Amino acid sequence: MIVLGIETSCDETAAAIVRDDGGRDDGNGRGVVRGVILADIVRSQLDEHRAYGGVVPEIAARAHISHLDGLIAMAMDTAGIGFGDLDGVAATAGPGLIGGVMVGLTTGKAIAAFHGLPLVAVNHLEGHALSVRLTNSARLGGDVDFPYLLLLVSGGHCQLLIVEGVGRYERLGATMDDAVGEAFDKTAKLLGLGYPGGPAVESAAARGDAARFNLPRPLKGRPGCDFSFSGLKTAVRHAVEALPGDGVSATDAADLCAGFQAAVGDVLADRVKNAIALFRARQPEGGALVVAGGVAANQALRARLASVAADGGLALALPPPALCTDNAAMIAWAGIERLRLGMTDGLDASPRARWPLDPNAPPVTGSGFKKGHKR
Ligand code: KG4
Ligand code: ZN
Repeated sequence: MIVLGIETSCDETAAAIVRDDGGRDDGNGRGVVRGVILADIVRSQLDEHRAYGGVVPEIAARAHISHLDGLIAMAMDTAGIGFGDLDGVAATAGPGLIGGVMVGLTTGKAIAAFHGLPLVAVNHLEGHALSVRLTNSARLGGDVDFPYLLLLVSGGHCQLLIVEGVGRYERLGATMDDAVGEAFDKTAKLLGLGYPGGPAVESAAARGDAARFNLPRPLKGRPGCDFSFSGLKTAVRHAVEALPGDGVSATDAADLCAGFQAAVGDVLADRVKNAIALFRARQPEGGALVVAGGVAANQALRARLASVAADGGLALALPPPALCTDNAAMIAWAGIERLRLGMTDGLDASPRARWPLDPNAPPVTGSGFKKGHKR
């Protein structure tokens, strides 16, 4: 099965072609290959939004319109296929900035309608949630089978879920204010490190002393799996304001980044520990902790979560960094997982600004919206 994936929910315009190899062994003794990425093209809009320190929805939608057709053509070219070789089209239908979602979903519908292909209207969060099952399992230390525990940490989302299967999620907790990536971005902005903040904070943190500033660990030690990051962000701001002299030196910035990242690591570890206990009540043995979303690209946090998973007897499974940040390969893959189960959508599928994975969970008060756009 070969599927075209389209992603336009935030500030990346992306098109990808993924082939399902139906669990074929790759023949190298490295395990089972679940999917093969034939093309994976991402055009970031960072330059368009940089001056504003965040994503401007209308600028994003216009950039998606300008670039999506070309990126799809480039993906088809790279994969060396024509539309006639496709078995389906998967487009992000939400959650996200509605203008961008409409551009991608409408484009997907047009291709599906014209070429008589099935359409899958993909939940962007399901794309992140299932992405770990796309890549070569050798890198991940084994196949990731349902159910698994998922920590979804991106610029717009911070949630812990049990992934029971395709389209079947139970949310254990979510952030009450900022998403983790958002906290990274705001910290970077405060320290003048530019946008997006995650990679900048991570590289500054590597040179810093995490013990210099005493930063809080919100909710640590409390029951439950919810998160809060606004207190931490405020503490960073107060620490900056209390610095002697004017301006933040490179050493100050590095020390603050290291302290911030260590605090985030402690909070994530604590919340994940509680989630593992809930997961264990359901599944006494085996299982995996999957970390997905842009923040999962952070090497220090990956290492921190590896030890938490090991303590809980769970395998840690991480998509490669390029599949952690927004991309269309994960959307194509979610399409493949759905098409395998006969799950398709009509050409009347609606774009959705909000779209929780677990419809029974109470509405999230903090996350669920893309970078910087609270409603
Ligand atoms: O998944 P993603 O590309 O977009 C959303 O769906 O939000 O995640 C982007 C977020 C940004 O907030 C960015 O700062 C953060 O992921 N991020 C990181 C790192 N790389 C990206 N955060 C911490 N460390 C990183 N290395
Ligand atoms: Zn995302």
